[in-house]
Amino acid sequence: MRIDIITIFPEMFEGPFNHSIIKRAQQKGHVEIHLHQLRDFANNKHKNVDDAPFGGGAGMVMMIEPVYNCIMKLKSERTYDAIIYTSPDGNLLDQKKANNLSLLTNIIILCGHYKGIDERIRENYITEEISIGNYVLTGGELAAAIIADSVIRLIPGVLNDETSALSDSFQDGLVSPPTYTRPADFMGLKVPEILLSGHEKMINNWKHEQAVERTKQRRPEML
Ligand code: ADE
Repeated sequence: MRIDIITIFPEMFEGPFNHSIIKRAQQKGHVEIHLHQLRDFANNKHKNVDDAPFGGGAGMVMMIEPVYNCIMKLKSERTYDAIIYTSPDGNLLDQKKANNLSLLTNIIILCGHYKGIDERIRENYITEEISIGNYVLTGGELAAAIIADSVIRLIPGVLNDETSALSDSFQDGLVSPPTYTRPADFMGLKVPEILLSGHEKMINNWKHEQAVERTKQRRPEML
């Protein structure tokens, strides 16, 4: 999979993409992430990518031309399955969406900024708008990193044990059951006996029951 991210803050991705599983996924060739500085596609002297809104109002608006130039350059090099714009009024990201995106080959994520973006970009070049939650961030970079992370870990081979993604919360429509590790008794706080029993079938049944119970309590709308 290839992910192209268009942003005015490419440095913001150094943290999330250069550690742990996402770093290894790139090293192993499961995903290529390409960061594009939007200012490089501005044709004006000062490399401005924003301007005042027509009709007045507070804040600056991301200009159409640099975004168009960048998207057109990328599209001239390969075909894209999705061109995503990060926006608080987009479709909410969930596990199903992450699963669907993980099946694609090439995607672009355009990070939103300022008061917004020239509507003509959204209408003509964006195939999908995604929000990571009902709150407003200072920009789309963190949202883009979260979208990419949730998608990359689902690409087959990225997680060592493929079943570990399959048993994620949400993946099977249930949240995860509780987990424990050594010691079995910490100052009187005990791990459920069943997990120490060695009966694989009974343990799996217990985990499933716990997952159902937790889903009822915490995410009843999922059932
Ligand atoms: N940009 C600002 N807030 C956002 C959000 N909640 N989701 C996606 N992009 C955003």
